[in-house]
Amino acid sequence: MTTLQAPLTTGTVANLQQQGRERLSAAGIPEAAGWTDWLLTHVLQASRCELVMRAAEPVTEDQTGRFNAMLDRAATHEPPQYIVGAVDFLGCTLACDARALIPRPETEQWVAQFVRDTRWQTGPRPAVADIGTGSGAIAVALATCYPAARYWAVDVDSPALELATRNVDRHDCVDRVTVLASDGVAVLPDAHFNGLVANLPYLTTDEWTTLPRHIRDYEPRQALDGGPDGLTVIRRVVADAPRVLHPNAVIYLEIGAHQGRAVSRLLTAAGFVDVQTRGDWNEHDRVVTGRWP
Ligand SMILES: C[S@@+](CC[C@H](N)C(=O)[O-])C[C@H]1O[C@@H](n2cnc3c(N)ncnc32)[C@H](O)[C@@H]1O
Repeated sequence: MTTLQAPLTTGTVANLQQQGRERLSAAGIPEAAGWTDWLLTHVLQASRCELVMRAAEPVTEDQTGRFNAMLDRAATHEPPQYIVGAVDFLGCTLACDARALIPRPETEQWVAQFVRDTRWQTGPRPAVADIGTGSGAIAVALATCYPAARYWAVDVDSPALELATRNVDRHDCVDRVTVLASDGVAVLPDAHFNGLVANLPYLTTDEWTTLPRHIRDYEPRQALDGGPDGLTVIRRVVADAPRVLHPNAVIYLEIGAHQGRAVSRLLTAAGFVDVQTRGDWNEHDRVVTGRWP
């Protein structure tokens, strides 16, 4: 049941911040303080540091009204990235809405490792496939960091592809990123790619059912639910990937914290070599890498 909330009282930045935190805490948002600051920085066009420095400044009625409308949405557990419609990914500000998964910092971390991996950067115009592109985050970030390559960004989900197309346009990458519909690597050409990166759904269906509301109720299930053991889509992509890869191509697959061994085995069984599991800052398995011989 949704309880109607009294509108906020216009006052100072600190007053709004306090009222926002109270309202989101009352709505059971675990990150009430963080979400409040996220929305408030957006409404005031200020950094978090400026929220502190400008705490005693008055806010306008218009700002209060816009913040109030955002809190109404956040109180239903809608993530702040969808409410403000933007998220940063490796320095690129991407359009972000419920058509695709919100890009995560854990993904940024291994994408930065891929950019530094010179093994795929062969020839004047290497080709890289981003399978399950969602918002286009990985392809756009790679095309920005390493513009000399050619990228193919594919997804099965049409709404996600619309968002990816918008992000590719917004970052002026149309000349080097092709966005297209594909189930796994199905529509990709044979022996074409020097690199393949993928953040595919990897949660088990049981894990998906126990996700916090702000994820389960708002982010697309197709982006998260990887079937009974979490590996339904990954297993198929690993088996089909060799057809589209050049010799010496490099593969990076994002995985869940306990899937390093299982996905390494899949890659080895498919014929990949130099297979490695790497962790994230929290020392959770996060990506499995390999090379097609
Ligand atoms: C975890 S999201 C990743 C989105 C984005 N790459 C990112 O890192 O933020 C997984 C994406 O894979 C897509 N997907 C799921 N099954 C797929 C399949 N069989 N072939 C291609 N894409 C698929 C989903 O639609 C979703 O956009």
